[in-house]
Amino acid sequence: MSGPLVAASGLTRIYASGEERVVGVRDASLTLEAGELAVLAGPSGSGKTTLLNLLGLLDRPDSGTLALHGEDVSSLDDRGRARLRREKLGFVFQSHQLVPVLSAEENVALALWIRGLPDAECRTRSRAALASVGLSGLEARRPDAMSGGQRQRVAVARAIVGEPALVLADEPTASLDSETAARLLDLFDALHASKGITFLFSSHDPRIVERVPRRVRLVDGRIASDERNGRGVK
Ligand SMILES: Nc1ncnc2c1ncn2[C@@H]1O[C@H](COP(=O)(O)OP(=O)(O)OP(=O)(O)O)[C@@H](O)[C@H]1O
Ligand SMILES: [Mg+2]
Repeated sequence: MSGPLVAASGLTRIYASGEERVVGVRDASLTLEAGELAVLAGPSGSGKTTLLNLLGLLDRPDSGTLALHGEDVSSLDDRGRARLRREKLGFVFQSHQLVPVLSAEENVALALWIRGLPDAECRTRSRAALASVGLSGLEARRPDAMSGGQRQRVAVARAIVGEPALVLADEPTASLDSETAARLLDLFDALHASKGITFLFSSHDPRIVERVPRRVRLVDGRIASDERNGRGVK
């Protein structure tokens, strides 16, 4: 493995709906080093979800290249992409997408069960992940008996339990009030500092965006600015 964690160059995704062609992202180039905490900012429709889906191997670009740890993913078939997603990536979605009939611990363990790990190991690691997001004691709780912020923490635990190289999150704070949203960002910060997890998430909330050291701004599908601690990133 070599090179930056993420190296995207000239990514373009155009959606065709009937006769109409809509720009998702155009000519987006971005590198992300391991250990960064980064936000994709931009107004509604600017391409945040589209770019996250491309970087998360949930969608394919019309043109451009993408490498993860120096491995070119363009040539991979669906199985190869699924393997990389499983091994290297964790996802947090805008609405937590937890399984309602499973407990918090089972929701987190699911991410490991599908990899075929032994049940006892899945459970131990899931409890540790829940502890790292501050939810010790709530392992047996079902999602519908939790607050929105707690549910998002379970979703974060599920995303990190497999020790991914990169966690991608699309508007993870959008369904939270501003206080709870700020605490979720505190959690990203803490996990980033203590475990070196790399986070890339999207947000259109200026109060969240201004707290993140690496800020990539999208306007009309293009990367309009990219700064790290207030300085431009080449
Ligand atoms: N499946 C699709 N088919 C057609 N157009 C799409 C599709 N998905 C997104 N688009 C269009 O692509 C552009 C970028 O959308 P995208 O969802 O990436 O924006 P976003 O920044 O995530 O917006 P939001 O903040 O509202 O989530 C928009 O013009 C959108 O209408
Ligand atoms: Mg979006």
